[in-house]
Amino acid sequence: MCTIVPMSNSRRKKIAVLTGGGDCPGLNAVIRAVAKTAILQHDWSVWGSEDSFEGFMGSGLEPMTLKSVQGILPRGGTILGTSNKGNPFKYPVQTEEGDYEFHDYSSRVISRFRQERFDALIVIGGDGTLTIGHQLMKRGIPVIGVPKTIDNDLLCTEQTFGFDTALHTATDAIDKIHTTAESHDRVMVVEVMGRNAGWIALEAGMAGGADVILIPEIPFEIEKVCRKIEDRSNSGNRFSVVVVAEGAAPRGGRQVYRHRPKDDPFGRLGGVSYSVADQIQGNLGMECRVLVLGHLQRGGSPSPFDRLLGTRFGWAAVRLVVEERFGRMVTLQCGQIRSCPLENAVAHQRLVGQDDDHLRTARSLGIAFGD
Ligand code: F6P
Repeated sequence: MCTIVPMSNSRRKKIAVLTGGGDCPGLNAVIRAVAKTAILQHDWSVWGSEDSFEGFMGSGLEPMTLKSVQGILPRGGTILGTSNKGNPFKYPVQTEEGDYEFHDYSSRVISRFRQERFDALIVIGGDGTLTIGHQLMKRGIPVIGVPKTIDNDLLCTEQTFGFDTALHTATDAIDKIHTTAESHDRVMVVEVMGRNAGWIALEAGMAGGADVILIPEIPFEIEKVCRKIEDRSNSGNRFSVVVVAEGAAPRGGRQVYRHRPKDDPFGRLGGVSYSVADQIQGNLGMECRVLVLGHLQRGGSPSPFDRLLGTRFGWAAVRLVVEERFGRMVTLQCGQIRSCPLENAVAHQRLVGQDDDHLRTARSLGIAFGD
């Protein structure tokens, strides 16, 4: 276990902040709250690392001022840029043959951090980025984590920021699809994000009144999906709405990739909705249409909830730096801002459990999960 050298009290403190992994609405709210709290309350120097950890490995460390965070609260994305490919412990380098080799460049990040005499690093990210943060912490870097992701799949926090906005986007789309499905007596299949965790599909599906929800945690059988749609049709509802998470897979089958070149570790999921729609149309002879929401769910202005949560998280992250409680992630617990050890948060992903109350409620309302 490495020892973390306590911050000197005489020198003006200097902290760095970065955003890593896929972007989501609310990142700018966190950055703004970190910068404003650090500058206005403590007169610290705040630096942003561009494109996640890339800033520490190249020339992308920039000082931040109150001016740099002005007007960013309602803006989607991240003013710092982000990347979900630059893990410094396993940095991908493409060879001339087009394959990938992985290098450990973490010492570059660590020496740059020390050279610049930073007192703390605030890492805003999902499980991948926070795992990197935890690894850096074990190498002696004083890290504080802030949980972000539209997938809402982090442990120890009731909610990550970004999820609420994505839920609004997906629910709005399902509402709109509903009316056209009904007018044309069609089956509409809406594909939402969710690689391993089905929270967006489950909650947006419930909020939007979907008839079938397919999530990665529950392998589906297409016959059972068809039976539900047929039952509805026989009872006079000649349209149906199916919400499917991109990571959902048939029992005994595989997830559907849109793009997965050989040896490329960054395969992109996508397209399960087309396979589901084709099979429904083939089995039942009903007309089907597909909508893949994709990155629309990651964009746009954050909801008031995400702006507030991001702002509260940003403030709390600075508070943990003041208290020198490094190696922790800020959390939302019973509506209050708390914190937990980073290692607990990244132990595994928070998936939809069989006894989850959303799932049980949905089942009792007659929503089918294809199992
Ligand atoms: O982690 C968030 C997420 O939205 C996943 O649900 C999805 O699989 C992934 O990002 C897609 O990321 P990208 O296309 O940016 O690599």
